[in-house]
Amino acid sequence: MDEKLKKVEQILQKYGQEQLLDGYNRLPGEKEKQDFLNSVLTVDFNQIEKLYNSCKEAKDFSKSKIEPIDFVDKSKLSKEQYEKYEKIGLEKIKAGKLAVVTMAGGQGTRLGHTGPKGTYDLGLDTHKSIFEILCDTLKEARDKYKVDIPWYIMTSDENNEETETFFKEHNFFGYPEKCVTFFKQGKLPMLDTNGKIILNEKGQIKEAADGHGGIFQSMLKDGVTFDMKARGIEWAFIGGVDNVLVKMVDPVLIGLAEDKHVLAAGKSIVKAGPKEKVGVFCKKDGKPSVIEYSEISEEMAAETTESGELKFAESHILCNLFNIEAIEKIGKMELPYHVAFKKAKYLNRDGEIVSPTEPNAYKFEAFLFDAFESMDDMAILRVKREDEFAPVKNAEGVDSPETARKLYIDFHSKNK
Ligand code: UTP
Repeated sequence: MDEKLKKVEQILQKYGQEQLLDGYNRLPGEKEKQDFLNSVLTVDFNQIEKLYNSCKEAKDFSKSKIEPIDFVDKSKLSKEQYEKYEKIGLEKIKAGKLAVVTMAGGQGTRLGHTGPKGTYDLGLDTHKSIFEILCDTLKEARDKYKVDIPWYIMTSDENNEETETFFKEHNFFGYPEKCVTFFKQGKLPMLDTNGKIILNEKGQIKEAADGHGGIFQSMLKDGVTFDMKARGIEWAFIGGVDNVLVKMVDPVLIGLAEDKHVLAAGKSIVKAGPKEKVGVFCKKDGKPSVIEYSEISEEMAAETTESGELKFAESHILCNLFNIEAIEKIGKMELPYHVAFKKAKYLNRDGEIVSPTEPNAYKFEAFLFDAFESMDDMAILRVKREDEFAPVKNAEGVDSPETARKLYIDFHSKNK
């Protein structure tokens, strides 16, 4: 018998995943069979077992000491303070020390757009896609600071090809092609409720992107940090693809991090109310962290300061700045995985494609903000929601293209 197949059989038996062999036997051709065996050999089954067991564990935050985190309010800086940070940041930007990374590996299930989220036409008169809107900020910086800021775009297996093609078809939106680099994030198998790996429609292992926290490992593995260092980059702004008011090039943020001698900084906006479903920056056992809305108690979420503001008010908006040194350190660490129960199309044991109407499979994701706890300290810059936050998450209602478009238009008509 084929040695590789024998090895795969042993592994699958050891980890109770023999159902995959039925899938293997049903595959039509030699190429598909070899692909299947190779992908089984890349799976870390110990990790899969650990992840499945973790689905049943409830997180306990009661033992952690959660405190508010210090922040600087951008709009309340004195003229001198503002200019000091701006000057430091500008020096770095003009010296080519900044890169920008856009995380575009997500599935965008809530938006329901058929292509990658960045290719979505926001519905402006110009019909600009989200990618083009983001690129505008780099072109603006190019005109202002006379520097081509390298732009790295993290995609996933599922959307990489479409993303690259979109950029080519749109001539990189007029930004120099040599400044744009794509890299793919990692992926993990999806499991059914019994902890068994499921198959995709083609009969191969069903895998899903490993969450935005996978970015650090991917940057290391795919040579992004190496490339950045070769270009002399010191700071990388890392943001999501789906905020059409994101300020990817902000000298004040860099200046603040430099001045505070920290290796990471994050932007926050004031939480709209105790019940808003956002994670907030905090200190957890003395380390910077983000506590999610599902993890903070109602009492804590409603606590106020003497001036009547929420005590935990600094919402995390996935706009962060990391020093290369920090990225390299985090990339070598294992961040915790969070589990999500999702609807996932799969091939059942009779070889039939099933499109579930209810969640049926576990997906494991690392979150970028879990990396904060590995830092001694961070700089937090509070910015104005209407200036820097217009998320495109849902097809309709809150955080939809309609609300983001309005915020985008209002901001740009105010700042003409
Ligand atoms: P979200 O958590 O909002 O997920 O991602 P999403 O994929 O865009 O949308 P839903 O939840 O399926 O509706 C926030 C940001 O992180 C990126 C997304 O592309 C988005 O910019 N992301 C998320 C990744 O790059 N990789 C991932 O695995 C997950």
